[in-house]
Amino acid sequence: MSSDTKMPSNAGYAEEADSLVSSYESISFEDIYTPVLDILPQGGRALDIGAGTGRDAAALARRGFLVHAAEPTAELRAHAQRLHPDPAITWIDDALPDLARLHAGETRFDLIIMTAVWMHLDEEERARALPRVAHLLTPDGRLFITVRKGPVPLGRRMFHIPIDPLTAAASEAGLVLLRRYEYDDRLGRQDVRWTMLAFERENRV
Ligand SMILES: C[S@@+](CC[C@H](N)C(=O)[O-])C[C@H]1O[C@@H](n2cnc3c(N)ncnc32)[C@H](O)[C@@H]1O
Repeated sequence: MSSDTKMPSNAGYAEEADSLVSSYESISFEDIYTPVLDILPQGGRALDIGAGTGRDAAALARRGFLVHAAEPTAELRAHAQRLHPDPAITWIDDALPDLARLHAGETRFDLIIMTAVWMHLDEEERARALPRVAHLLTPDGRLFITVRKGPVPLGRRMFHIPIDPLTAAASEAGLVLLRRYEYDDRLGRQDVRWTMLAFERENRV
């Protein structure tokens, strides 16, 4: 599973935004995150990177978090703001690997999630992004990443992500692995599987 590294990481999403809404909103945050709810921080500040239609950002707001939702595809961001007009959510046009706007601010997060986003970055972008994401965590903040395994849909840019090098790079970035498991695709695609990785920022003070 790989594609052209010169395509933008969000290739295909603007064109398909309208048709993706019903699919992304047909599942819930809990459908994906129930097996890690016991290690989810209990409120504070959360960041959803690649927030799409805002399903998870809205669920985190309902769970009491103050949420920043970063989404580089304007068409998806517009749907998200219309569907989930929760004042606890701040919408940002920002993108991996640099997350320049978030890094320009002082806010640090107790929880960061990246649901179905990481496979859009090539190897170089992933290496650059991971320490920058880790830097946005509070000293004992937690990071949840879901990684897709399966064929690349036409018009998208995706890469195969080996999990062991990812957990090793996370360790280098000061992230301790709390949990790792595989699960079936929640949208019912037989040829797609996912890995959930949960990390905690090592407190090196
Ligand atoms: C498969 S969708 C997942 C959306 C949402 N997280 C969900 O689970 O429904 C992938 C999302 O990643 C976003 N994306 C693509 N490249 C990105 C990047 N470089 N930085 C942040 N988000 C990106 C896309 O615009 C899209 O919203």
